[in-house]
Amino acid sequence: TDPSHIRNFSIIAHIDHGKSTLSDRVLEMTGTVAHRDMQAQLLDSMDIERERGITIKSQAVRVNYTADDGETYQFNLIDTPGHVDFTYEVSRSLAACEGAVLVVDATQGVEAQTVANAMMAMNANLEIIPLINKIDLPSAEPERVKAEIEDGLAIPADDAVLASGKTGVGVHDLLEAVVYNIPAPQGDADAPLRALIFDSYFDPYRGVVALVRVVDGSMRKGQKLKLMASGKIILAEEVGARHPAEEPLPQLGVGEVGYLVTGLKDLSQVKVGDTLTLAEGGVDEPLPGYREAKPMVYTGLFPIDSDQYEPLKEALEKLSLNDPALIWEPEKSHALGFGFRVGFLGLLHMEVVKERLEREFNLDLLATAPSVEYHVFRQGGEMISLHSPQEMPDPGEIERIEEPYLKAKILIPPDYVGAVMDLTVARRGTFVTMNYLSQHTVEMLWEIPLSELIMDYFDKLKSNTKGYASLDYDFDGYKPSNLVKLDILLSGKPIDALSFIVHRDKAYDRGRVLTEKLKEIIPRQMFEVPIQAAIGGRVLARETVKAKRKDVLAKCYGGDISRKRKLLEKQKQGKKRMKAIGNVEVPQEAFMAILKVD
Ligand code: GTP
Repeated sequence: TDPSHIRNFSIIAHIDHGKSTLSDRVLEMTGTVAHRDMQAQLLDSMDIERERGITIKSQAVRVNYTADDGETYQFNLIDTPGHVDFTYEVSRSLAACEGAVLVVDATQGVEAQTVANAMMAMNANLEIIPLINKIDLPSAEPERVKAEIEDGLAIPADDAVLASGKTGVGVHDLLEAVVYNIPAPQGDADAPLRALIFDSYFDPYRGVVALVRVVDGSMRKGQKLKLMASGKIILAEEVGARHPAEEPLPQLGVGEVGYLVTGLKDLSQVKVGDTLTLAEGGVDEPLPGYREAKPMVYTGLFPIDSDQYEPLKEALEKLSLNDPALIWEPEKSHALGFGFRVGFLGLLHMEVVKERLEREFNLDLLATAPSVEYHVFRQGGEMISLHSPQEMPDPGEIERIEEPYLKAKILIPPDYVGAVMDLTVARRGTFVTMNYLSQHTVEMLWEIPLSELIMDYFDKLKSNTKGYASLDYDFDGYKPSNLVKLDILLSGKPIDALSFIVHRDKAYDRGRVLTEKLKEIIPRQMFEVPIQAAIGGRVLARETVKAKRKDVLAKCYGGDISRKRKLLEKQKQGKKRMKAIGNVEVPQEAFMAILKVD
């Protein structure tokens, strides 16, 4: 296709503003997918995405659109993930585009991720088409939202497209706006190949498939290509476009977006953000902006049944093929046996990965409380990156500890400034500044330890602001902090998998609340189980789980058999998520109790 007839763009939005619904409508209205084949939210192909209504991996779809001028255009629509955990993938996807459609919910207005995504699109020099969505809703306020887009984002919104992904109103206007406002790709068709890898996934039959944007030159089936980050040479087994069903093509020309079957079996060799060139006669300079995605949160994943250690390892290998941000190393716990310490971009990423491991690979897993990466400096200066509280050296050996901080940006209506102050100060946040973006929106900037943010901060923020607050954050480097390891002891024995790192000033409170929580969570056993929280040898709090008095069935008088069966059933289910630690049965919840401590 002649590049003048190509439009590469992304649809960006705050979560739930209707991006996926709108993308689906575009596919349907361009005849890419017939109505009867529309599965709700076609682009969100993974089950978990569909269930949770979130887009995790970005996707690319090619659409042919015959415009009102009678010409047919090739649209490459690149869907981007909407959640803050996945901003690296958003930025890679945007690098493959010339324009972006900024979707804003007509009833919600500009929210934190609207701002963050719009900033990223502006940084990538994209042409932005504002679209005010869900105008079918009676509570839609398109004029107010236009003003917010102009005041808050400095994007002209007079000509914003007014649309509804649900009814299809305004989608034709959107398609025309894409043709006229988004620039055609510019590249050198005669230069050697340079292509950006903006996504990749593992296909069980064909190996690693990369989603690519050709910047210069072209990519043909059968060519030998080089991955510039690793220098690895691969064979282009197949190239083509996705509609979203894959259509093999002889080549991908300059400016085009499509897929490449690499034949590689290991996804870690195909890094998102890397540049592809020709193996012979290729370029020396990669495309700008490649960086490795860096995990922020670590957790221990242990199979409930130790026979599942190898299958868990294989599953992690498979998933990380498709997810360069996922890293892991073996971890051994006295309490839980052999497992892995796994690094994630954030808590949502962690939940999604754990769920996929359990569902797609049939594993029963126990996850320990998430922890961040601490920098521990030993006396004498050696620094250790600590991913697990278990690796903490003795206090006497430690000179200082540093922890990761975030710059957090919170958008709220002015009424909630006080509530956010109270909560964030209690989480060791340092207030930086506050601006009125509009009459209805205040932007507060904070510095807050990442470890505090991962403790249900977001849930608390939402509930303390009646759901109005939105949060965005960036990594802000390491700062020294007075941190200690808090041990949890069951029946007098420290349980390594339950220990965690906490600020000294919070140690007593957290220890007390946690022992109380654990008392509720750990089921009664045949014997008494003392629970203690301690620093070094010093006990800060103690609770006791009393011994079981009678059999569960003793509760049922006489012969109600179905009730008995139900109780047994319930007991069995409760068991599933338990792990015997020594002789105490500890449920999964116990490990997550640390996250909910106020
Ligand atoms: P992520 O992919 O998770 O970022 O969400 P999204 O932005 O793709 O939102 P999605 O398309 O999943 O829509 C969110 C919710 O809004 C769903 O419940 C949709 O049914 C609803 N919705 C989407 N578009 C419209 C619309 O135009 N009108 C109305 N009334 N509801 C809509």
